[in-house]
Amino acid sequence: MKPSILQLNPILIPAINEKLNALYTVHRLYEQDDKDACIREVGSSIRGVVSGGHTGISNALMEKLPALEVVAINGVGVDAVDLAYARKRNIHVTATLGALTEDVADLAIGLLIATCRGICSGDRVVRNGEWAKNPHPGAIPLSRRFSGMRVGIVGMGRVGRAIATRAAAFGCPIAYTDLHAMDDLAYPFVADLVQLARQSDALVLSASADKAEGIVNAAVLDALGKEGFLVNIARGKLVNEPDLVAALTGGQIQGAGLDVFVDEPNVPAPLLAMDNVVLQAHRASATVETRTAMGEMVLASLAQALSGQRPEFSLTT
Ligand code: 8YV
Repeated sequence: MKPSILQLNPILIPAINEKLNALYTVHRLYEQDDKDACIREVGSSIRGVVSGGHTGISNALMEKLPALEVVAINGVGVDAVDLAYARKRNIHVTATLGALTEDVADLAIGLLIATCRGICSGDRVVRNGEWAKNPHPGAIPLSRRFSGMRVGIVGMGRVGRAIATRAAAFGCPIAYTDLHAMDDLAYPFVADLVQLARQSDALVLSASADKAEGIVNAAVLDALGKEGFLVNIARGKLVNEPDLVAALTGGQIQGAGLDVFVDEPNVPAPLLAMDNVVLQAHRASATVETRTAMGEMVLASLAQALSGQRPEFSLTT
């Protein structure tokens, strides 16, 4: 009999879904109208869960899955899983470590360039005919140079490092903060986030959110300053969103490039009307290449766990 697994949100690569279907009895919870009834019916048989980084799994749901052996996160952030609880139950929680580094770093740089060069607002001006109506070059304000910008990176894991490499190639001086300085990095470490913001033209958030909720607040944004930019490709909850909206509204910072939000898919309404903000729908890992690699890692983690091995990318066992 094929092992039963529960999938909490969709995987967008057909070949990965085909492999899941071939190997497992897959219960796709997101397709069920009555989710509680589905769990009551199949909960006791579930040995593996597949979920996204942002979705994770609640303890309440894990409690309803007594045979659970593995939670395979199709993502790198595991802040939406209680790892201590999983550890107590000896459940492997795996993540797709390393699979999405390049794409997430690419989008961080893309968002920063798009924001400081006004790429999206410029696109709107061309599309809505404003340029044709008023071709005077002064009708569109000059933008801010990206090359050479002082970039402060918050969280120097795989993604933060890949962002640093890219920004350095544009001649940007890099500094970073994290829980501690890292001996293998030549970039200056700045322990205090307010200080890092003060000495940066752009702050890029690439930290995991488990220990860092709300760290980007009014004081940090104030220190970033009127000409500063914020980019977030990590988790919305790293930022105090009302403080960010206030800072953008009041001109305390220059602009923001945001891929993630506190309450996705809800984006604070004032941001939607701001020309100096570039918005994405949590898309940093959303390429065919990365999602395929992530899906293969999910398959490998399930296979390892359900054949009695410790999965290579387990964070709990
Ligand atoms: C994904 C993510 O969008 O890796 C993460 O932590 O949030 C994203 O890469 C998500 O996990 C897709 O399922």
